[in-house]
Amino acid sequence: MRKKAILITGAAGEIGLALIEKLLAQDEARLLTLDLRPLPPETMGTVTHMEGDILDAALLARVVSEYELEAIYHLAALLSTRSEFSPEMAHRVNVDGTLRLMQLAADQSERRGQPVRFIFPSSIAAYGMPDLQTKAQAGRVKEGEWNYPATMYGCNKLYCELLGSYFSRHYQQLAARRPELIDFRCLRFPGLISAFTMPSGGTSDYAPEILHAAAKGEPYHCFVRPDTRIPFMVMPDAITALLTLAQAPAETLSRQVYNVTSFSPTAGEVRELVLRAFPEARIDYQPDHKRQGIVDSWPADLDDSAARQDWGWRPAYDIRRAFDDYLIPNIRRRYQV
Ligand code: SER
Repeated sequence: MRKKAILITGAAGEIGLALIEKLLAQDEARLLTLDLRPLPPETMGTVTHMEGDILDAALLARVVSEYELEAIYHLAALLSTRSEFSPEMAHRVNVDGTLRLMQLAADQSERRGQPVRFIFPSSIAAYGMPDLQTKAQAGRVKEGEWNYPATMYGCNKLYCELLGSYFSRHYQQLAARRPELIDFRCLRFPGLISAFTMPSGGTSDYAPEILHAAAKGEPYHCFVRPDTRIPFMVMPDAITALLTLAQAPAETLSRQVYNVTSFSPTAGEVRELVLRAFPEARIDYQPDHKRQGIVDSWPADLDDSAARQDWGWRPAYDIRRAFDDYLIPNIRRRYQV
């Protein structure tokens, strides 16, 4: 008899670790996690972890033979900066890997006779603003606007959103018998900031890097201009968004891809907030015009009214609460400063 499980890929990443912690706190005992890396010692042993590659067909075959998956949180991905250095590898991981997971979800849905929920984080990188003037004029961007990504990562995410829609509506549409389809749900996240972990290989990383460097007493050269503005969210809200969307009754959802956001500070405003808590911090600006170009192509703000309306999305942390109640106290504890 196959064991029931909820699969989390990319489990050792920032979102993965926070999601595992939250699900364990809710007494979720069926977690099966997959990552190239081991989980940190404090998480190891609390879940069933498989170390390996989502592109490894034998590993995925083992998952299918041993587990009945009810939901998949497919978080494994190469972020935007890393993807620009190895675009073909990014395509393999971000697109081929996602395709395989969707095939696996479709297979599991068919076996169960019930759709497997496939929860997929997309990104502000799915947007591409042509220039700063357009970005300033566009303001809060809706899901269907400016879908012209300027990065491999953004192209990968946008295409996988379409793949998710295809697998959940049209997969095997010419087959004699319509198969059970997957239940695909997707969030377009802004930049994420955690007090406990650091992102790696992203381009919104300057905000968490300013904060963590300041707390550690290390100097930091911010790689974007102080006037650079993109949306951000703290990790607890990102996890709430994932779980709320995953649990929303299907009939309340009017779309499959939802923007979510919390606040849109400039890099200069992030620095000011960090300096309020760590006045000795040494943060200056040394813009890297290539990475700057990527951040400039992302919208300054997102319109998340569809998520608010359909499934009651509302961030718990505005920028003040994010810094005063979550980031600064936790980061002080973490680095004992
Ligand atoms: N945080 C991501 C990145 O910087 C954007 O989704 O690549």
